[in-house]
Amino acid sequence: MYRYVKSFFGDKNKENTEISKEALLERPLPTHVAIIMDGNGRWATKRGLPRSAGHRAGMETLKKIVETSLDLGLKHLTVYAFSTENWKRPREEINSLMHLLVEYIDKELNKLKDNGVCIRTLGHIEELPEKAVISVKKAIKDTQENSKLYLQIALNYGSRREIIDAVKVIAIETAAGKIKSEDIEENIIEKYLYTAGLPDPDLMIRTSGEMRLSNFLLWQSAYTEFWSTPVLWPDFTQNLLYEAIYEYQHRKRRLGGI
Ligand code: IPE
Ligand code: IPE
Ligand code: MG
Repeated sequence: MYRYVKSFFGDKNKENTEISKEALLERPLPTHVAIIMDGNGRWATKRGLPRSAGHRAGMETLKKIVETSLDLGLKHLTVYAFSTENWKRPREEINSLMHLLVEYIDKELNKLKDNGVCIRTLGHIEELPEKAVISVKKAIKDTQENSKLYLQIALNYGSRREIIDAVKVIAIETAAGKIKSEDIEENIIEKYLYTAGLPDPDLMIRTSGEMRLSNFLLWQSAYTEFWSTPVLWPDFTQNLLYEAIYEYQHRKRRLGGI
């Protein structure tokens, strides 16, 4: 019906593989897709534009990919929007990212709400600028009853900080006698992560060709299938998401077995 060409080594001469939605629906979809949306800055620089223009274009891609996810019937989409390390960037770039976040929510919230998207966040949102905190909290509140697609936005998120936060609470509860140290197992750790109750990602996508996790979901991605494309996030398309899912569906997940 269609030909599939491996894409993750970025063969620019490869045929453009079109994968149909029907083909994807023949096999189980990943329950949870996580995306490291990377390459906005390079996209802009290549065009002689300021980095903020790349972030704006990246926001448009996010809109599209949320729509595709809804259309496909994905249950969980988690996107890495701002890391704990991204505070190292110039003030101006941080401001433009925060401004775009507010703009995205203001423009899209009604549509997201009507389409059944439940917005949640991972990370310390209280440390964001006040305007962003207000917008994000409104988005969470207004969409909390929705359950078609859970959209987790990782904002001021760092996986090591998440683990430290969990360890601290577990230590306090253990000292208080609420948890017995011999009972500390995976399920206890998971209960105290920001992702408590969320299934682990099945598929992790990173754009812009980088092959690292950059402090994203370290615990949760122990057995996640990783898929990377050289395409920069503003150029990412529905068809590339289909390609990633298609490849995921054809991998053999052994989870440590044979
Ligand atoms: C991803 O694009 C967006 C954020 C990290 C907020 P980058 O801004 O990291 O773009 P590059 O990697 O510099 O091209
Ligand atoms: C990861 O991208 C963070 C987000 C996409 C929000 P970075 O661009 O910050 O990561 P590094 O610096 O390439 O590892
Ligand atoms: Mg980057």
